Amino acid sequence: MAPTPTPTLGPSGIDQPSPAKLLRTARLFASDPALPSLMDPDEEESRWVELDSSPELQIWLLSWPAGTHNSWHDHGESAGAFQVVSGTLLEQTSRKHRWEFRTLIAGEGRSFEENHLHHLANVRAGTALSVHVYAPRLTTTTRYEITPTGLQSTAAGNPRMDY
Ligand SMILES: [Fe+2]
Repeated sequence: MAPTPTPTLGPSGIDQPSPAKLLRTARLFASDPALPSLMDPDEEESRWVELDSSPELQIWLLSWPAGTHNSWHDHGESAGAFQVVSGTLLEQTSRKHRWEFRTLIAGEGRSFEENHLHHLANVRAGTALSVHVYAPRLTTTTRYEITPTGLQSTAAGNPRMDY
């Protein structure tokens, strides 16, 4: 009797995780109850802490005191995901010359493909915390500005500030 073939799950995808896997990773890290202790609650500027890192993956905890935001930016060749741990974040994106707004509260997140272009802000009272995952790790970003004809790239970004 011939042996029964072992079922295969196919490639693991660890080297090139899908956006859905990145969001699951962000949710997993966001569930750590110790995360708030990594940030100073009295800080007035946005801060980041690297939670884990490899050439293929980068995971950050970000703090967003009330009123803080980042610049319009893309993520180069990195796909990514983010999950709100506490507070509320507003994400602004642009699609075919139309502005889109997403409000994400604690427990909500989203993923994105490479070259995703967005702007994040905490427009509510109190500090927000969020976990961000990038694959591969962020190495290049580009900043954009709003012009009469839409978003225009303006400069090479800083992966330490354009998260
Ligand atoms: Fe970003």
